[in-house]
Formats: sequence, C-alpha cells, structure tokens
Amino acid sequence: MTDIFAKYAGLKAAAAGLTAHSPRNPFGVVIDHPVSATVGLIEGRETLLFGTNNYLGLSQSKAAADAAIETVRREGVGTTGSRIANGTFALHRKLEMRLAEVFRRRHCMIFSTGYQANLGAISALAGKDDVLLLDADSHASIYDASRLGYAQVIRFRHNDPTDLDRRLARLKDHQGAKLVVVEGIYSMTGNVAPMREFAEVKKKHGAYLLADEAHSFGVLGENGRGVAERDGCEDDVDFVVGTFSKSLARLAVIACPISTVWS
Ligand SMILES: Cc1ncc(COP(=O)(O)O)c(C=O)c1O
Repeated sequence: MTDIFAKYAGLKAAAAGLTAHSPRNPFGVVIDHPVSATVGLIEGRETLLFGTNNYLGLSQSKAAADAAIETVRREGVGTTGSRIANGTFALHRKLEMRLAEVFRRRHCMIFSTGYQANLGAISALAGKDDVLLLDADSHASIYDASRLGYAQVIRFRHNDPTDLDRRLARLKDHQGAKLVVVEGIYSMTGNVAPMREFAEVKKKHGAYLLADEAHSFGVLGENGRGVAERDGCEDDVDFVVGTFSKSLARLAVIACPISTVWS
C-alpha cells in the first residue's frame, strides 16, 4: 500500500528543522486570550501581536460585540442551509444592498469568507473559452479559483503593467473574454498595486479588471473603498472583492465580492 503521507516527508523534515531550536512552533501559536486589539495572552505572557490584520483595531470593539450579540439573539446562530435553498435572511440582502451602495455598484453578493468570494466570483466569471491573467504573487484563493473555472491561466510579473500589456497584446486574436486579477495591497509584502496603470492597460485591450481589495478595504481611499478609490479609477475596475476578516475584524462574519456581474 502506498503511504498517503509519503509525499509530505520533505515538508515534515523542513518543518522539524525550523522548530528544532525554537522553544515554540511558529506555525502553531495559540493565543489563550485576546487582551486588546494588539496584545494577546500566549503561554501566560502578554505578547504583542504583529501578525494580525486588525488594521482598525475593531476586533475588541464593544460596539461591534454588542451589535453581534444583539443580532445573534434576534436571528439565531446560523441559517442551516445554502443560500439558494433557505440560507438567505433579509439581513443578508440588506447588507448586500448597503455594501453595493457604499461601493457605488449595482450588485453585491456576500459569501462566508473572502476565500470563498474569490472562488465563487473568479470561477464563475472566467469560463472555459476565457483567459485569466493573474499577478504572479496572487493570493492562494485566486490561484485556487483559477483551477475551478477551466479558463486558460496566464501569469504576469508582479505589479508590472508593462508585462501585462505585452501578454494581453499576444492575445489580440483570442475570441474569449479576458479577466485580469490584481490585489489592492499584497498580503505578504504590503506592495500596493499600480491600479490606475492596470486599469489603463485593461481598457486598451478590452479586458476586464477584478481588484481584490481584501487588505485595502477600510484602510485606503477617502471612504475606505481601497486602492482603486485612492487612485481615482474605480469606474475602470469591473469587479471588486473584499473581505470583512481584515480591517473590519469579521464583524459580520462575511465577505463580499461587489460587482456588476449580477446585474
Ligand atoms: C488578498 C486576499 N484575498 C482574499 C483573502 C481571503 O480572505 P478570508 O481570510 O476572509 O478568507 C485573503 C486572506 O488572507 C487575502 O489576503
């Protein structure tokens, strides 16, 4: 019988090497109790948390906690069904409409997480005759989405509109739609996308642009709508994905792709 875990032997050895001389496993840190937005109790010690995405410090907001408790008391703790069966509450629709208004879009669809928002939006938008052009440093959810939709996938150099321009030019005779996917702020490096330049390139080639503003939502732009707002090119971004799990500290336990596709 083939050992189903054998393929992970190398990974296991690498992880063991990393943790051999460390008092604790950096991949398995447990926060016993959050003390504040920036401090957690870890092994009995108050420890500064540098790894969170709690950009606005809302995770410990009393107003948010009170609102969440009140809503749970009124609505219960779950829908116990998928959205198309029996899982959409009036409150979900209200939230979608409110988000669409805030982002000045015609429609919005909420998912349980930002990961699912990317899976749902990208795999539905880019079908088998289409081409997906992904920034090389895209988040795992974007790569996973690209495997679900059967579209041809082309990577362009990270944050490089000139490389995107070149690759789109080579597709000039391609009949299918072209969807370019970039992030507002890249989670691992903090790099900010040159959104206006990407928007110019996509317009030049008749492509669509999806911006994942997961890390810029609530942080950049006068109204917190992200890099596209900051750069004044929101009208040229066709689809926006956001998540409530970063700056909004998952206040409403949802994420939202906000787009015009469901018009
Ligand atoms: C760019 C980007 N998109 C999407 C996600 C997924 O969001 P969530 O954690 O809500 O699933 C993340 C989370 O790390 C992210 O960094």
